[in-house]
Amino acid sequence: MKNDIKKNHSKIVKIGIIGTGILGNAVGLHLLRSGYELTVYNRTKEKTNKLKINGAKVVNSPKNVAENSELVIIIVKDANAVKKVSFGKNGIVDGRHPGLTVADMSTINPMESKKISKIFLKYKIIKLDIPVMGGPNVAINGELLLMGSGNKERFDKFKNIFNKIANKVFFVGGNGTAHLIKLSMNIQITMLALALSEGITLVKSAKIDPRIFLDILNSTYFKTGMSENKAYKMIQDNFEVTFTLKNLKKDISTITDTAKLFKINLPMIEKAKSVYSNAINKGFGDIDYTGILAYIEKINKIQLKITKNNYKNKFIT
Ligand SMILES: NC(=O)c1ccc[n+]([C@@H]2O[C@H](COP(=O)([O-])OP(=O)(O)OC[C@H]3O[C@@H](n4cnc5c(N)ncnc54)[C@H](OP(=O)(O)O)[C@@H]3O)[C@@H](O)[C@H]2O)c1
Repeated sequence: MKNDIKKNHSKIVKIGIIGTGILGNAVGLHLLRSGYELTVYNRTKEKTNKLKINGAKVVNSPKNVAENSELVIIIVKDANAVKKVSFGKNGIVDGRHPGLTVADMSTINPMESKKISKIFLKYKIIKLDIPVMGGPNVAINGELLLMGSGNKERFDKFKNIFNKIANKVFFVGGNGTAHLIKLSMNIQITMLALALSEGITLVKSAKIDPRIFLDILNSTYFKTGMSENKAYKMIQDNFEVTFTLKNLKKDISTITDTAKLFKINLPMIEKAKSVYSNAINKGFGDIDYTGILAYIEKINKIQLKITKNNYKNKFIT
């Protein structure tokens, strides 16, 4: 019965995705597997191939996506990219029709988010903010956390789709609010990756097996999802990309820009910005953000991988 309702709904709502990078691909595949009709566009067309094989209609512009969709989800890099696909040549607004709704999942500056919503309104289009927590590995199963803001009535209209994309959905207020909270979430991600990396580096420098450090950390109040999961990949030098280090640095810059706009001082994120920037300058930008460990190990000339014998700790006599 529940599935029938979803099936019927999927016939009604045509969804579009603009931006099929790491996150857009996973969200798109999940929607296709859930029975939705999907139209997609990406600036680099090859990145739509997997979605096409799985049944998505691939078109040549954001305008074409809008023409084919009732709900257009934008999942691109930053506010400039959102403006480009929305208001640039053959942008979303050129494909407008009554009933078109836009929802922006990109992580962007909240003040830009507000401005973009206002421009959309001039074209009589409602733009919702739907930034998410979680990467492609959970997006593929519809297990993201979604923060919504903007027009509540319109948000509720598409809520069953947001519930399909995410297993935790929050509505938090007017346009810009969700993006501001999302940036505050990314402060946590930034600091957790750094704190784990520095802890791992310190124990490795004393030739103590970092697994021991993680096992003890995970037996305390200070454990996190990151320390319980990704950290074990980090100590194996497994930085398989789910969210690039350069995209996290993009978010850190957005956080510091936003802090300036709000006239507040966030000293640790300023420091983190220079660490992540240096990592990018040394060539670590395209690996996973947890690869900040590899950079910290590099500056400390630590390259010990876990083998049976190389963790004879310095304190054993
Ligand atoms: N990956 C995650 O775990 C995750 C989680 C939460 C939020 N996010 C956010 O979601 C967004 C996408 O992240 P991602 O991981 O999918 O990044 P990604 O793999 O680097 O993809 C970025 C996407 O943005 C497009 N793009 C960039 N600049 C553009 C421009 N000027 N005009 C048009 N398109 C442009 C790219 O097109 P091309 O392919 O042509 O370069 C690509 O489709 C970002 O805002 C990110 O912060 C990501």
